[in-house]
Amino acid sequence: MAASPSQKNQLFLGLFIHSIRLGELQYLHDAAVCVDKGGKIVAVELPCDQEKAEDKLYPSLGWTPGDVLVTAAKDGQFFFPGFVDTHLHAPQYPNVGIFGKSTLLDWLNTYTFPMEASMAELPRARRVYARCVRRTLAHGTTTAAYFATIDVAATNLLADLCLAAGQRAFVGRVCMDRLGPEYYLDASPAAAAAAARASIDHIRTIDPGFALVSPVLTPRFAPACSAAALAELGALRRETGLPVQTHVSENADEVALVARLFPGHASYAEVYDAHGLLEGGRTILAHAVHLTDAEADLVARRRAGVAHCPCSNTALTSGEAPVRWLLDKGIAVGLGTDMSGGYSPSVLEAARQTVLVSNHLAMPAAAAGVERAPDSHRQPPDDNERARAKLSVEEVLHLATRGGAEVVGLSDRVGGFEAGKEWDAQLIGLAAVPDGGGEEDGGRAGAGAADEGNVDVFGWETWEDRVAKWVFGGDDRNVRKVWVRGRLVHSRSPS
Ligand code: GUN
Ligand code: ZN
Repeated sequence: MAASPSQKNQLFLGLFIHSIRLGELQYLHDAAVCVDKGGKIVAVELPCDQEKAEDKLYPSLGWTPGDVLVTAAKDGQFFFPGFVDTHLHAPQYPNVGIFGKSTLLDWLNTYTFPMEASMAELPRARRVYARCVRRTLAHGTTTAAYFATIDVAATNLLADLCLAAGQRAFVGRVCMDRLGPEYYLDASPAAAAAAARASIDHIRTIDPGFALVSPVLTPRFAPACSAAALAELGALRRETGLPVQTHVSENADEVALVARLFPGHASYAEVYDAHGLLEGGRTILAHAVHLTDAEADLVARRRAGVAHCPCSNTALTSGEAPVRWLLDKGIAVGLGTDMSGGYSPSVLEAARQTVLVSNHLAMPAAAAGVERAPDSHRQPPDDNERARAKLSVEEVLHLATRGGAEVVGLSDRVGGFEAGKEWDAQLIGLAAVPDGGGEEDGGRAGAGAADEGNVDVFGWETWEDRVAKWVFGGDDRNVRKVWVRGRLVHSRSPS
């Protein structure tokens, strides 16, 4: 079951929009992107139409027209890099939206551990995971960093399903040998390490080079892991060089619990560092809401990345992660849906909430409540810092694509439309309101009233404004097609 790129070379034509640096989107109008049979971008040319591509690009690539599949964005549509969801829990998918008034630690016990444990029943896991993968693809998520469960067979099934559906994925068997209910715990640190190995071995058999699906070492979070279990995983990290994902400093009670459980350590992040889980430049830390100054410096020095999960942080009342501050520290930041702490499978929703949470940080009321965690040594922000907290549409789209790619260690392969990168992309369509149209079509805007969502474009908006309208009003109805490594993995009909 190999990852199967497209069988043909491909030519994509039209408008391409991608982030070239934090805060700057590039608009490539009337452009052509050539993608080879392996799913790699081999040429980017503009201006360029099909005729010019056939005359100029094909000969230089050794292509003949019969060998090329052509996809042209229609007027008003654009190609955008696929989203990277740097943090989500596939087994929690059925719980999306269900969190009541809980906060992290009671949410885990009430909703999360029982649901995760139930995935040991494989037909149930198949149903949930298949749906989760399809749904996230439909929202334009081409790369996902998944937490699975402690169950090896169900974790392996998730990896199989990602590979079959063509989603680029990191799949982690969750290690936890304490804090959870008795029925949902690793038997010992050694058993946790053995189970992690078993899942790594499985993924190596289905995708030997980890071209599409990779294992990721996944200690749930420090409170759920004994020091011995963390040490086992740290040793496994050194041995394999695999990436690591975990949670850090999400909630004030959790931070206090870590201080109680690991009294000899300087901080939460330092617990991971002391067990060899922060080094190597391949660690994804989810949340990082309440990091101290010294912790953020440590994370930056170790080149670990942060998965910012605003939907979850707000839903579980965890706090407002200071994203600008993290970026200023030189830490790579991507976006995570954190389903089902987060209530949505959409990275676009996470991007939107990233803007809104950053606006909250810029409000004086947020400054008044700045004692984010009892142990925080951060200074309250001054007016200037507060104003800088605000993140723009362009900045959050960077985090959703290139920033995420950096966090998961794929910045040489995905996140933008340069030659040499792989074609992980989505075709976005917005509803064009017809000239003179409006009431007489019963509000069914757009040519043929194709289901293009609720972002109405009148035609006079700049492209910058259209992108902003997409970020704040868009959803999966705007995602017409999705490709990973050149393979079409989702299509919304009619196109
Ligand atoms: N911390 C430990 N486990 C979890 C989890 O499943 N979700 C979130 N949001 N935080 C966690
Ligand atoms: Zn999480």
